[in-house]
Amino acid sequence: MNTAPPPASFPGIDGFLGTRASIMLDVVFVAMFVVLAVMAWSIYLVRYRQEYLLHKRIQLILGTVLLITVAAFEVDMQWLTEWELRAVASPYFVQDYSSATPAAAKWGCTVGRSLLLHLSFAVPTFALWVFVIVQALRHFPRPPQPAPYSRRHKLWGRLAAFGMTMTSLTGWVFYYLAFVA
Ligand code: HEM
Repeated sequence: MNTAPPPASFPGIDGFLGTRASIMLDVVFVAMFVVLAVMAWSIYLVRYRQEYLLHKRIQLILGTVLLITVAAFEVDMQWLTEWELRAVASPYFVQDYSSATPAAAKWGCTVGRSLLLHLSFAVPTFALWVFVIVQALRHFPRPPQPAPYSRRHKLWGRLAAFGMTMTSLTGWVFYYLAFVA
């Protein structure tokens, strides 16, 4: 492990997990555990308890929470926190990083590749969640009940759940490589 510079040397607000990450990164890191647990519970409820309305409500709340989190996260990453500065102490990041560092070096190192892998799950999963929610709202009766649309919803719903799981796992790996190692 490398010794992190004192927190005051990073722009943005420091997190609460005692790593080099910013507060938004820590919030998202923890939120993903909650999202996965609640999503698993929601799928359990619909599959084994036939709690269709509860499943709908939980998924709509999860979708809204995710939308707000992604928006706040983007604002933080684009304007407030320069995550690269927080990652410089990692042995897996470009050691001599400056804002003039070529993109190839930044994205070619282990941290950069892990972020690309994470984004390759996060971006399609985000679109998939919007699709699954919009289609479910359009095709299921109110209150929700099994319907001819069920077969397709189960397929896309499982894919959306898998995407969210992979987004979380790859996000945690990126967090570790960039801000803990
Ligand atoms: C991204 C959001 C959602 C995800 C990931 C999701 C995921 C799932 C999954 C995986 C199943 C199948 C469970 C099994 O294996 O039996 C399921 C079933 C179901 N979902 Fe969703 N769902 C979402 C949103 C919604 C919404 C918004 C509604 C209602 C408008 C809804 C209504 C239902 C119903 C009625 C079933 C039962 C289908 C049946 O057994 O015939 N879902 N969902």
